[in-house]
Amino acid sequence: MTARKLFVTTALPYANGNFHIGHIMEYIQADIWVRYQRMQGAQVNFVGADDAHGAPIMIAAEKAGKTPQQFVADIAAGRQQYLDGFHIEFDNWHNTDAPENHQLAQQIYLGLKANGLIETRVIEQFFDPEKNMFLPDRYIKGECPKCHAKDQYGDNCEVCGAAYAPTDLINPFSALTGAQPVLKSSEHFFFKLSDPRCVEFLQEWTQNGKHVQPEVANKVKEWFSVRTNPDGTTSEGLGDWDISRDAPYFGIEIPDAPGKYFYVWLDAPIGYLASLKNLLDKRGEDYEAYMADPQLEQIHFIGKDIVTFHTLFWPATLQFSGRKTPDKICVHGFLTVNNGEKMSKSRGTGLDPLKYLSLGMNPQWLRYYLAAKLNGKNEDIDFNADDFLARVNADLIGKFINIASRAAGFITKRFGGQLGTVSADGQALLEVLRAQSGALADAYEKRDTARALREVMLLANRVNEYVDANKPWELAKQDGMDARLQDVCSTCIEAFRLLTLYLKPVLPALAVQVEAFLHIAPMQFADAQSALGAGHAIGTYQHLMQRVMPEQLDALFEPPAQSQQALAAIENEVNPLPGGEAIAPTITIDDFAKVDLRIALIVNCEAVEGSTKLLRLTLDAGEGRTRNVLSGIASAYKPADLIGKHTVLVANLAPRKMKFGVSEGMVLAASHGDEKANPGIYVLEPTPGALPGMRVR
Ligand code: 2FM
Ligand code: ZN
Repeated sequence: MTARKLFVTTALPYANGNFHIGHIMEYIQADIWVRYQRMQGAQVNFVGADDAHGAPIMIAAEKAGKTPQQFVADIAAGRQQYLDGFHIEFDNWHNTDAPENHQLAQQIYLGLKANGLIETRVIEQFFDPEKNMFLPDRYIKGECPKCHAKDQYGDNCEVCGAAYAPTDLINPFSALTGAQPVLKSSEHFFFKLSDPRCVEFLQEWTQNGKHVQPEVANKVKEWFSVRTNPDGTTSEGLGDWDISRDAPYFGIEIPDAPGKYFYVWLDAPIGYLASLKNLLDKRGEDYEAYMADPQLEQIHFIGKDIVTFHTLFWPATLQFSGRKTPDKICVHGFLTVNNGEKMSKSRGTGLDPLKYLSLGMNPQWLRYYLAAKLNGKNEDIDFNADDFLARVNADLIGKFINIASRAAGFITKRFGGQLGTVSADGQALLEVLRAQSGALADAYEKRDTARALREVMLLANRVNEYVDANKPWELAKQDGMDARLQDVCSTCIEAFRLLTLYLKPVLPALAVQVEAFLHIAPMQFADAQSALGAGHAIGTYQHLMQRVMPEQLDALFEPPAQSQQALAAIENEVNPLPGGEAIAPTITIDDFAKVDLRIALIVNCEAVEGSTKLLRLTLDAGEGRTRNVLSGIASAYKPADLIGKHTVLVANLAPRKMKFGVSEGMVLAASHGDEKANPGIYVLEPTPGALPGMRVR
């Protein structure tokens, strides 16, 4: 069988913001698939690029005081840290404003035109007379014609959900300048998707069971019979596609049409080809020859929000400009975080990929977790913190990594690192593992990594059962059992190698560590059918992966201000004394009873002039008067944070004369023994119901 030849892409992100976790999920999914294909010997070119064009980027650049090119370049400069951070290995990362894309987009357009599929029509649109530009629907606001909610966008109402045309808005205004837009007509270029040639081609292409998942094909089918117009009404069949925008626009000029640019969605997917061409040019390979190879498979990974563009416009654009059409569009769903709850300010803002990395969280945990949830369908998946902790700690580490740590020590210490002969029961176990190689390959091929990892964990269970049945730690204590100990541990090491091989697309860095530890060459999928064999010498086992600490997840989902404190909590985990100091000598209950602790209401709180450390608290401890307490908590709280809260007061502490006045007692707060290294002060607050004056005992 000749090696597969694959050209693989992920959707091109708009160059007006950093990657969010949804981008990272898609790239991880595609990266796993590509790594699997490479382990099967495929020749893959895996490319990405920034989607540079369009009105929003032009406007954002202007706001930032940059040229669009500079703006896009600045965003692009931030990409690599995410890709490296999550072990995502594109062969090339380009951008859609590059010369290759200008050239390809113009060629493709001319091909469509030569085929009689481009038509011009004059249309009327809102125009901002102050900014001198036509306004995209998103930049027109006004009153909803249906429910009369104010300040709604030009395409639909966020209050009642109605869809309408911008011209239906009551009192429309430009979101850019506030000016009242005027209707102005202009010539636009259309790709005639309603042409019977396009309709026939697309019906076959989307419905022949070869290019999209069944659930996607079903959705697309509807678009051939009805379509929703901008004003919410419906029409029959595919509509023509408006592919032009008027200057000023950041985009690619339409040949022989001064002042007209391609709509960003025309040139964006052409950016897939441009990035590939850029890569092949750099390598001195011929782009046209590469694309002309009938064996080449062109695969696009995308999210379910951009299916129309990739299953209708994109294949038609390629087909009718005389180019190769995609072989597969792989559609995934959305990623929600912690049950899809909308992230509020106080609960943090979703899962920030760079914060994940900065907390020292292993990127392979996320790869493993997402792979365990993705099944090749376009369903949404949820990142759930508790589930993440359980899957990583109990499955990945508890079931898989521990196999190596349980066996390797004996091989190193007792047998000079050499594996022994595996006897019949061990061979039987290894055969079970090897027999799954086809099923696992099938699951990876179909992007059903959830099934692949479920299978691998079932196999890991079998191996752990074998370990528990043979108890190497007991064999090690028995006389005359050396050969059996070596046999059992060698079986475990070979089993661990096979499981690592099966997980390698998901855990690439771990696989490299294991290959080094086992003294073996980079594993290919076919290596599942071979064995290390007796006499093979392995290296010394070094701990392969840490567990997730709950504090890391707390910190990940905490709003920014609190992360410092949660990070300090992680430090504590590493410190053998949880609070950073040893417990004080024992006291009796009578000693404790001498301290009179009372609930107090913080009726007022203010900064202390001349002090950066102190806050002045006015406390009501139910005594019919208030007390003045100076407390060194200014670094952790703003006065307004504390007013109205209850806390605990040491009520019988002798009054103390300080530089800023007399302090009549002390409020209780927690802090780390080493406050410098672990900043953070936490004033105690009783659960609701406690009243001023109640004694704490
Ligand atoms: O939806 C988006 O983020 C687009 N920038 C995706 C473009 S994919 C491809 F067509 F370039
Ligand atoms: Zn409305």
